Amino acid sequence: MTRPFYITTAIDYANGAPHLGHAYEKVLADVISRHQRMSGYQVHFLTGLDEHGQKVQQTAQKREVNPQVFVDEIAEIFKAMLKSLNISNDDYIRTTESRHQLVVQSFLQKLYDQGLIYSGKKTDWYSTRQEQFLTDKDRDVDGNWPEIYGEVTQTTEENYYFKLSQYQPWLIEHIKSHPDFINPSFRAKQVLEFLKEPLNDLCISRPKSRLTWGIELPFDHNFVTYVWFDALTNYYSAVADKNLWPADVHVIGKDILSPPHAVYWPCMLKALNIDPPKQLLVHGWWTVDSKKASKSEGNANDSLNLIQSHGADAFRYYLSREMVVGQDADFSHKGFGDRYKADLANNLGNLVNRLLNMVGRNYAGSIPAPSADEELEKSLRDLWSVTQKKYFDSFASYQISHALESLWVFVSAMNAFIETRAPWKLAKSTAPQDKARLDSCLAYVAEGLRLVGTVLLPIMPESAAKLLVNIGQPVPTHFEGQLNWSTVCTGRKVSEKCILFPQNEDSASGVKA
Ligand code: MSP
Repeated sequence: MTRPFYITTAIDYANGAPHLGHAYEKVLADVISRHQRMSGYQVHFLTGLDEHGQKVQQTAQKREVNPQVFVDEIAEIFKAMLKSLNISNDDYIRTTESRHQLVVQSFLQKLYDQGLIYSGKKTDWYSTRQEQFLTDKDRDVDGNWPEIYGEVTQTTEENYYFKLSQYQPWLIEHIKSHPDFINPSFRAKQVLEFLKEPLNDLCISRPKSRLTWGIELPFDHNFVTYVWFDALTNYYSAVADKNLWPADVHVIGKDILSPPHAVYWPCMLKALNIDPPKQLLVHGWWTVDSKKASKSEGNANDSLNLIQSHGADAFRYYLSREMVVGQDADFSHKGFGDRYKADLANNLGNLVNRLLNMVGRNYAGSIPAPSADEELEKSLRDLWSVTQKKYFDSFASYQISHALESLWVFVSAMNAFIETRAPWKLAKSTAPQDKARLDSCLAYVAEGLRLVGTVLLPIMPESAAKLLVNIGQPVPTHFEGQLNWSTVCTGRKVSEKCILFPQNEDSASGVKA
């Protein structure tokens, strides 16, 4: 029986256009999903849109449209981004859907019935931009409110609170006893540090006088739920009718780890007697040209143009290769162009073409059987075993950039192997051992490329499939039985030419690297 694997991304705020940060997270979750599917898991990949809240209400008002009409438009734009990136999500949840609202309301009612939600009055500092109450802990070292909070005002309001604080000892214990709960582990340490201070109870409502665009509390029609209680529940509501909980991985950015995902969510679930998710995979922050990726600068949206100019696969490769999961990374057009040219067009793309060329010229397009197996060939085969192990070990902890780094060591080794063997010289020789070497050289490179193409399918689904088809191979759906060094390429017909990653001189459309 295949094991299920339930993976989610954060649901994006419906108050602006998609940008690099949104795109990256979807690519990361998609690469993991595709890799897990090929590894034999029954994957369920969820992403979606966070559609309630003050900012959406305000923007819709400004544009004089109904908020539902507004979020419907935004949802189409976000879905178009998923399509352009070739994201293979199995479901898309929107928090305005009734399947979601019903679960949120049932959660609220259950907690209320158990006395875990109470009403209280509080005067507090409130940030309209972040839609959250602030405490003095949120001030900067000079005692001012950091810019991210925008205008901060004092407000007295009656609201509903969830008894978050009573779960603090349990949460600390849970994080300590489940080292995989927060990946990478240095983030778990930060959360434990945060938990050294006593937690406040969590305000989960907004009066309708201030916010109407939300899910109504089932026990008080004058209030709607507060953003996190609504948003976090999507992970559960989307699979409420499926036997998939607990989620295997929630992929999120570092800004929403603590407190939302590492504190509120597990405590909410604990109070509801539901298991917490197995892992929070926390990626870092993208900057663009060393500046914060921001809507106002437009820099983070610009980067998405590369999908159109260079294809989704090159973009997916760059993001996966450049960001060490957990660390921040910088996006630049130059960085993208350099990797496109060096890694994709030259190192991999030219290697494929060299092979097709030589097989076409010397073997009428059919890959020869290997015959000589000298030290050089053996070392390439051995390097594959090492590469395969490193690649899959890195994937097991979702360190995709490390996996790609090892894979490209192998791709470079194939290029070096060709340089050393110099098949163009061997082809001119009449000595029988040179003929054997030529057979093996091309057979080994074909086999190496088959293996590379196979493991790359989750990262660059179209280009990797194209690579395989051009060397006469079927495109596998699973890794099983595909990863050992073999002779399955022998006798396969290759195509005459294949430009996997066009550069300006060989592209009719003038694609520039
Ligand atoms: N709606 C909330 C999440 C609710 S999840 C129950 C939210 N939305 S968001 O649109 O602001 O961000 C969505 C995801 O994109 C988050 O995981 C966030 O970390 C990620 N990114 C947004 N900008 C980013 C970068 N510049 N770099 C990397 N990822 C960042 O938060």
